[in-house]
Amino acid sequence: MLANHRFTDLPAYAQLQAHYDVLKDRHLRDLFAEDAQRFDKFTRRFEDILLDFSKNRITDETLTLLLQLAEQAGLTDAIGKMFSGDKINRTEDRAVLHVALRNRSNTPIIVEGQDVMPEVNQVLDRMKSFSERVRSGEWKGYTGETITDIVNIGIGGSDLGPVMVTEALKPYAKEGLRVHFVSNVDGVHIYETLQTVRPESTLFLIASKTFTTQETMTNAQTARQWFLEQGGSEGDIARHFAALSTNRSAVEKFGIDPDNMFGFWDWVGGRYSLWSAIGLSIALYIGFDNFEELLAGGHAMDLHFRDTPIDQNLPVMLALMGIWYNNFFGAQTQAILPYDQYMHRFAAYFQQGDMESNGKSVDRDGRPVDYQTGPIIWGEPGTNGQHAFYQLIHQGTKLIPCDFLAPVLSQRPIGEHHTILMANFFAQTEALMNGKTEEEAAEELRKSGKSEEDVQALAPFKMFSGNRPTNSILFKQLTPRTLGSLIALYEHKIFTQGVIWDIFSFDQWGVELGKQLASRILPELQDDTPVSSHDSSTNGLMNAFKSMRNT
Ligand code: F6P
Repeated sequence: MLANHRFTDLPAYAQLQAHYDVLKDRHLRDLFAEDAQRFDKFTRRFEDILLDFSKNRITDETLTLLLQLAEQAGLTDAIGKMFSGDKINRTEDRAVLHVALRNRSNTPIIVEGQDVMPEVNQVLDRMKSFSERVRSGEWKGYTGETITDIVNIGIGGSDLGPVMVTEALKPYAKEGLRVHFVSNVDGVHIYETLQTVRPESTLFLIASKTFTTQETMTNAQTARQWFLEQGGSEGDIARHFAALSTNRSAVEKFGIDPDNMFGFWDWVGGRYSLWSAIGLSIALYIGFDNFEELLAGGHAMDLHFRDTPIDQNLPVMLALMGIWYNNFFGAQTQAILPYDQYMHRFAAYFQQGDMESNGKSVDRDGRPVDYQTGPIIWGEPGTNGQHAFYQLIHQGTKLIPCDFLAPVLSQRPIGEHHTILMANFFAQTEALMNGKTEEEAAEELRKSGKSEEDVQALAPFKMFSGNRPTNSILFKQLTPRTLGSLIALYEHKIFTQGVIWDIFSFDQWGVELGKQLASRILPELQDDTPVSSHDSSTNGLMNAFKSMRNT
């Protein structure tokens, strides 16, 4: 069990508050001017990944205090507990062991007296042989065709991870094998997907930890019905449907052959499950060897996180920078901005990863917190974001800490594209840091030939305050291994912040209420009887829906 504390009672918290009062008006431009060693001091490396956090509003003292905060919150002890299978997810009475799924060192990890590794390895072996059979063409559809299309049906953690990784690792995909993802219960999603595939050559993966999720079960039933209507028989289902789940009886009830079920365990959180059987679509798409490389990259970051002193630890640094802005500067959001088109779902993936984990407002003792916890995570790839929302980051009234991520080498080197992309990457963090003073803006206007009257009128609009913090994460190339490490980097950042905030990061009770109400409302929508059991707005909307659907 994790030891509890009150975040705001930690001695370093008060010291950080006092320190914030001194530092809040210092400009990054000056901090750089005063310290020639700033880049060397505030960068950390891990394999091919370089984290530069020097463009943050910190000094040596800030970092010392933030590290003390982590120590006082029991971070080292908490890391040890997660890795050793302690039931740190107390509200669900579960261990938190996504690290076991990628434990390539194969050292025993004990849960309730049993080493989980033999089972983990057994599922991986089955995934390997299944994915190899499908990819080689040995696995045939019901007419003897090879599989050309994989349709993963799942939502949340049973969708976002595989979507993000298959997009990110597209260059590793097998030619002629397509992967599709259906998540939304909006029938449009499955309709559009089924338009593009043929039953004879399609393999459906029903991905659901619980195998009870309404959206997934509805889409799975529709897929099954479509398959039967298009010429497949009940007996053919075994060749075209596989299940990725922890719920064996529900899988059997659905009619999926248990031989086609790939299991995992209650100690794998949905949003941490891409490393488990939920990653089968990834293994099919990029091949099992590459999937193993992804796991190896995650494992390497795990070892770094567990064994490296916290002041050299990349996940800890990212977490501490986030806490500095979230809890002392009052920043509400955190942008994730990959300068790699293949990573276009990376921010969306960590929207669930972070917000479902740390969107909590009671501490580990069940008391309401009186401080901020998880930030709003958002972002889009550069340079598209530059032409959309960066205006607000540069000149708006809100402080938005940003993570900039970029590969040194492009997966698709074409002409000058990557150099232009990277010029933008470096320019943005420099601009956000330095800004442009009103005098500099005025001087530029004068040089462009404006009258002094125009110069004075326009300069306030053309100045940038700067002092806007960024992390830069530069990595050699987006390989499966590096992607695995980057995902684990952010996972452990989230864990570190949750520990320091004294919240439970591995439950998600907040998604339950909406689900409960939707099940109550569903039968009320099934006839045209006016509804009066809700508040006037919900009644009014439902009754308008009922009358409009009939006119
Ligand atoms: O959104 C809530 C949630 O429980 C997520 O945590 C999970 O990833 C998702 O639903 C899907 O759940 P399942 O895999 O059980 O279908």
